[in-house]
Amino acid sequence: MTRATWRTRVGFILAAVGSAVGLGNVWRFPWLTAENGGAAFLLLYLLLIVTVGVPGLIGELVIGRRSQRNPVGAFRELGGSRFQVLGVVALVAAAVILSFYSVVGGWILRYTLASATGAYFEAPAQYFATIDYGLGAIAYHAAFLLVTVAVVYLGVDRGIEASTTVMVPGIVVLFGALAVWVSTLSGSAEGYAFYLSLDVGYLRENFFDVLVAAAGQALFTLSVGAGAMLTYASYLGEDRSLAADATLIAVLNTAIGVLAGLVIFPLLFSLGLSPGQGGPGALFVSLAGAFADLPYGRLVGVIFFGVVLLAALSSAISILEVLVSYLVDEHDLDRSVATTGAGGLLFVTGSVAAFSPTVFGLLADTIANLVLTAGLIGFLLFDGWVLGRLARKEYERGGGWIARATAAPWYYAIAIVLPVFLAFTLATGMGSVLGVPLSSPSALVVALVGVAAIIAVFRRYPASS
Ligand code: PFF
Repeated sequence: MTRATWRTRVGFILAAVGSAVGLGNVWRFPWLTAENGGAAFLLLYLLLIVTVGVPGLIGELVIGRRSQRNPVGAFRELGGSRFQVLGVVALVAAAVILSFYSVVGGWILRYTLASATGAYFEAPAQYFATIDYGLGAIAYHAAFLLVTVAVVYLGVDRGIEASTTVMVPGIVVLFGALAVWVSTLSGSAEGYAFYLSLDVGYLRENFFDVLVAAAGQALFTLSVGAGAMLTYASYLGEDRSLAADATLIAVLNTAIGVLAGLVIFPLLFSLGLSPGQGGPGALFVSLAGAFADLPYGRLVGVIFFGVVLLAALSSAISILEVLVSYLVDEHDLDRSVATTGAGGLLFVTGSVAAFSPTVFGLLADTIANLVLTAGLIGFLLFDGWVLGRLARKEYERGGGWIARATAAPWYYAIAIVLPVFLAFTLATGMGSVLGVPLSSPSALVVALVGVAAIIAVFRRYPASS
């Protein structure tokens, strides 16, 4: 069977931007920003997108395009079967993320419908608590997952490419329209101020916590570490610069994220609401309160939650495709069987998260960051020490002098600097999850020793072609 490919380059870019732009931009980002000192978080996050996110994304694209395989097959093809485990980490990361992602997708679907009927308008503050976990949440999670399955079922070009080429421009136009409308509300200025004001004191006191959260978010928002971008790049045929593509994807993702912020923060502040300190539901509660109070609230509510739904869907399909491509490539399953099977599995795992706030919080807040970080460390060390100069060649392929000039700095960044940094955030993050907080110097020592040990092993098995 010939392997699927993108019909056009623009199709690939839009699919990748669709993967990047999602709940990470609209829901997780404001939630984390509010939790981590406002603009202090924003600033670090932007810095980490440039220094960690983009080079990391390129590292993932390199493996996908070079191997033309799913994550597990990619590492076997390029490095031998002992490296397949790196692909397995990606599969686990994809399953973890889609499990909670689909639950939030279900909440959004419900809010879209409830905006149309006005179901939450009476008591917007109480509504979320009546739908967040339990059987209703499971039903809506199932509905969201079903749509995701349907798109992936149709295939890479007829399903994913065809739908994201419509969805991504739609997201931009609708968010743009909402941002303009929001700017006409009185009191919106305070929202812009919150976005732009910098609380340096907060940053100084909580530097390492904010750093770890911002690093995790930089990976999450660019869909890096779970093999989604690797898989999308494996459907690329022609030679064009991966570095240029990754930069474009990151710029568009950040621009759309900022645009979403320009809708959300002024909207909330204009009504005297705050983005909330109260966990994952806070944003829903505040936004529902806003729509319930505004003229044309129903219409605006449907448009707003509808756009978020599109953004969530175009990301969810990229995560499901990781699992589907693995089943199709490695187990020779028909795409229809693979999609249904993966959907069934995720229905079960997601239902646990839709039932238990504890499981949900654990997956969405901490484990997601940890698996993405662990996944990316593996990818980058593989690029750096198993592929070595082959990774550099793939980086330069299709690019001009800029690609040639940046290949060496990129290589040293992904082979050494970024793995140590990521291992540092991983050690710090794991320390706090396990209840044994590590001091920064000890986390750094753990990171250095860990990365050195992996490099010592990886170097022994260089790829030859
Ligand atoms: N980038 C997506 C978002 O910001 O919502 C989430 C995501 C998609 C993470 C795909 C990881 C992934 F592989």
